[in-house]
Amino acid sequence: MNPWAESVERAGAQRSRLPAPWSVVVTGSRGGGSSPRSSLDSSSEVVALSETLSRLLLSAASSSSHTSPSFRKTRSVAASAKVAALCSELLSRNSKLTPSQLFQPRVNNLTIRPPSPSWAAWCRSFHRLHSTMTAPHIAPILPASSLSPPDSTTRASLSTAASILQSGGLVAFPTETVYGLGASALSESAVRSIYTAKGRPSDNPLIVHVSSRSMLHDLIPGGAAGVPAMYEPLLTKFWPGPLSLIFPFLANSTLSPPKRQVAASVTAGQPSLAIRMPAHPLALALISEADLPLAAPSANLSSRPSPTTAEHVRQDLGTGRGVGAILDGGECAVGVESTVVDFVPSLEEGGLGELRVLRAGGVSAEDLEACLRDAGFGAVEADGTTGRIRVYARDFRSTTLEEAPTTPGMKYKHYSPTNARVVLVRRSIGAALPTLRDLVRITADSSSSPRRVGLMFTDETLALCGPCSATPLTPQCSQLSLSHVSLLDTSFLSYPLGSTLRPLEAAQRLFAGLRYFDSLETEEGGKVGVDLIMVECVEESGLGLAVMERARKAAGGSGELEMRVG
Ligand code: TXA
Ligand code: MG
Repeated sequence: MNPWAESVERAGAQRSRLPAPWSVVVTGSRGGGSSPRSSLDSSSEVVALSETLSRLLLSAASSSSHTSPSFRKTRSVAASAKVAALCSELLSRNSKLTPSQLFQPRVNNLTIRPPSPSWAAWCRSFHRLHSTMTAPHIAPILPASSLSPPDSTTRASLSTAASILQSGGLVAFPTETVYGLGASALSESAVRSIYTAKGRPSDNPLIVHVSSRSMLHDLIPGGAAGVPAMYEPLLTKFWPGPLSLIFPFLANSTLSPPKRQVAASVTAGQPSLAIRMPAHPLALALISEADLPLAAPSANLSSRPSPTTAEHVRQDLGTGRGVGAILDGGECAVGVESTVVDFVPSLEEGGLGELRVLRAGGVSAEDLEACLRDAGFGAVEADGTTGRIRVYARDFRSTTLEEAPTTPGMKYKHYSPTNARVVLVRRSIGAALPTLRDLVRITADSSSSPRRVGLMFTDETLALCGPCSATPLTPQCSQLSLSHVSLLDTSFLSYPLGSTLRPLEAAQRLFAGLRYFDSLETEEGGKVGVDLIMVECVEESGLGLAVMERARKAAGGSGELEMRVG
């Protein structure tokens, strides 16, 4: 079937979506029997389409109430899906067609006029329809189950994904942190299509993913010599792994130019380049099979929670976003993105400089600190504090950084569910503090009752929430499951964050839970999500720092509510 015929079929299926009211005015009289004549100075295919269109209108006009062989009345004919598809097809071939060209003005003595008000507006509505009728590309999900040793399915999926990347296409792939949307970092057009697919602001630079140290060296000025000394122990200890390092990337560097030049859009005009070596075996295999460094942001629509499964990617980018394929490697082990660090040289002669954590992530600040200390980069400050590491928001703030698009997740909205409001809840002790029951009342919005509230609490807190309802919320220790109770006209659904003893669980579940509540369906299949998601604050050490940073952003900086349990 040719593409326009497919459009016609689809439009038929989508009839209810046609802009209403749609009518075509037909005036004239039947009879005369002259054969259709083309008024188009155009290809025979366009003429044929136009004639078909005219005949369709004619038959629609004569099948409406009056079927007299001769009439001179103006008839409104609801544009059928076929008429719409044909008009749209004709206009897509030549957007400058006039009404008299689009319709054969005299087919069997009929004069056909398009509806008012204006031809231009009418064309626009055809075009809008046309765009909804054009087949959206659906990204196939490539299964990749086993890598050691790789089975034949995994090998085939990797080879398909690699060839898509080599021809400048987009492939979403799993990493140990979150799924990435990858494209060749060496191709300007490929990198630009990442921004388009995600709806990402063009001034927000991308991390380049490599599969070997030599690939890293090829990308930075000076090669191996361009790696700051303080990065060496970090590379040894944390690569492959969730650590992105920022390298100076100055055009006028005195170092030798990089062997492989990344596209300008990767750095979005910044004098630095962020690089990481992911630990997921499929990511590494894909990069080396394609033999390309991959620019890859998280594979979500801009501002949505990052994806931790192939299904999350499919929901955001699977249809009509130009993604060539989604490589399915199961759930991501870490669940929050990589830690982004920047080395800042010392201004003092012989000074070692410092490491700034611009985004907390999969490698904790404590582990970075310990690694540097073990490698002889430790420091004891005059005030007795130790360390070479300064964590953004914890140890320092800077308006310049906050306004710069280069600073991860600061300038742009992040991690937001589309439907629900997110509030942070901190478990605390004190008789005067509100209970969950009180919080529900406090946060109630009279317009949206009865409400559905999603709870992302730790297992320990859930266990103590029992008294707030007749049916206690069941703690789901390490297994994810849903509990559902009603209280004060409010339905509670729970997506537990796991045990406080295992902070990795909260990291793994945060994004998945936000997405889960956002896409909840009613029994009838309508999307309703929840009205409110309450996320419990976890301890801000280790991975907890990254979890809280993401949770705060999801809550839009709305602060924390204290809550008494038990
Ligand atoms: O774990 C991760 O890092 C995931 C996976 C796919 O590898 N990627 C990821 O990419 O989170 P993205 O684009 O969603 O976040 C990368 C952040 C951005 O917020 C960007 O501002 C920052 O890193 N970034 C990229 N290049 C930078 C640079 N040259 N200087 C400072 N920040 C940079
Ligand atoms: Mg992201």
